[in-house]
Amino acid sequence: MSDSHTKNTAALAALTDHAALARAWQLPALFAEDKKRFHHFSLEAAGLFLDYSKNHIDATTVSLLTGFARSCSLEQRRDAMFQGAPVNATEQRPALHTLLRAPAELRFELNGEVLSNEVQQVLQRIDQLSQRIRSGEWLGFTGKVITDVVNIGIGGSDLGPAMACAALRPFIKPGLRAHFLSNVDGHAIDAVLTNLSPETTLFIVASKSFTTQETLINARVAREWFLTKGKTADLAKHFVAVSTNAKAVAEFGIDTANMLPFWDWVGGRYSVWSAIGLSVAIAVGMDNFRAFLAGAHAMDKHFQESPLEQNMPVMLGLLGWWYRQYFGSSSHLIAPYHEDLRLFPVHLQQVDMESNGKRVTNAGIPVTSPTAPVIWGSTGTNGQHAYFQMLHQGTDLVPVDFIAAINPSHDRANQQHTLLANCFAQAEALMVGHQKDERAGHEGEALAEFRVLPGNRPSNTLLMDKLTPTTLGALLALYEHKTFVQGVLWDINSFDQWGVERGKTLAARILPELEGKSSTHTHDGSTAGLIARTLQKKH
Ligand code: F6P
Repeated sequence: MSDSHTKNTAALAALTDHAALARAWQLPALFAEDKKRFHHFSLEAAGLFLDYSKNHIDATTVSLLTGFARSCSLEQRRDAMFQGAPVNATEQRPALHTLLRAPAELRFELNGEVLSNEVQQVLQRIDQLSQRIRSGEWLGFTGKVITDVVNIGIGGSDLGPAMACAALRPFIKPGLRAHFLSNVDGHAIDAVLTNLSPETTLFIVASKSFTTQETLINARVAREWFLTKGKTADLAKHFVAVSTNAKAVAEFGIDTANMLPFWDWVGGRYSVWSAIGLSVAIAVGMDNFRAFLAGAHAMDKHFQESPLEQNMPVMLGLLGWWYRQYFGSSSHLIAPYHEDLRLFPVHLQQVDMESNGKRVTNAGIPVTSPTAPVIWGSTGTNGQHAYFQMLHQGTDLVPVDFIAAINPSHDRANQQHTLLANCFAQAEALMVGHQKDERAGHEGEALAEFRVLPGNRPSNTLLMDKLTPTTLGALLALYEHKTFVQGVLWDINSFDQWGVERGKTLAARILPELEGKSSTHTHDGSTAGLIARTLQKKH
């Protein structure tokens, strides 16, 4: 048995014993014992402040958790990722999204290729293209300026840019609108195109592979819609592509001079930092897009350079792992108290669950502990009036990440104070709970039990001064690295997604059958029944 395996087993055994004690702890009592607990369990990095004091941990827990992380070679594996080692072993690729946000002066070479030069060249092309559209130099086929940009893509080619455009709403150039079209459902494209004019609309067909069924169908429908007014020769003024697959882009009919490339070492869910972020750069301008990259880079440096005990992504990753491993938590709530972050939980679902929803280790052996929890959430205060009841009095333990900006981008202090009061109150209520009032007649004996909130429920609170391109970049990079950390703790490959492929294969088989073509494929009874009923009832 290897030395590292022995260390790993010993660290895990110590944690398992310690967790048995920690499960009995009461969070309010931990605060009573340590008057400086807030100070001891908070961190600041890259413009973000993390309060993680409302967790079932003490100094020993942190020491055991970081010890376990070291026994999993977290530092070495982090460094390997940054250095371009093929950490995505099943696809034999590095995962170098961090290079996309590195400063221009950083030279990075891999296998004889200066990748940093390629990154900077594409950034320049994003800069030029976005500037031409924003300045009104790029004109549509009737000589009008572009007012609407439609990003057609799905998964990582949609969620990141859609989230960033929503989050950076106050930075969007007035008169310019960004739309996101992902679903193959025809109602989605109807909803987007309804108020648009082919004369003033630019489509960005964003697809790493340029083979994704949904994206190509939507792009074809968009092209047909455009051709109801424009001519084939006008297409170049209204369609650009972002892809790693120039051949497929050309076959589709988009001039590759209008294609911005990226590389197979950028995972789809980590691609907003690449040319996939073109819609963001157009909407908010290149300076803001570069600030977004710089914010992420500041978090990258923090992740690379800070000791594990003071490392924000490491701490978030360890805490999430702790509850998943030892407290039976099967989900994790992301609660942004900022309306412009409403798509952040949605984007994180792909970042986290597509990365860590895995059942075998890097060695291909079934894992022995649960992997990615369900990531879910929506903005506060809306969630408080929907599902927070379950957090307070339900039977599951759901760790929560509250995310807020202290200063808003509007000037209505009263609304902001109310928002933050609710955010802090929810975290407090989850932890402190509400004990049974035994005073006779006070609340009425009959209702006393119903009013009890057990409390002792954990949460993190992340605060930023203000939501800006820089803090957004840092926030997203924080969660990307948190996901990476957990992947290391589980010893899984966070950069492949084989599970998604199966559904694509089966959909491709079923499609001709729904179109009435004969098929040699057989299906289970339910699927066969659904296909038969659809064929019988469809108009
Ligand atoms: O959903 C699976 C997936 O492969 C994602 O990883 C990716 O972000 C998405 O499909 C879109 O893929 P593409 O950019 O190649 O169209």
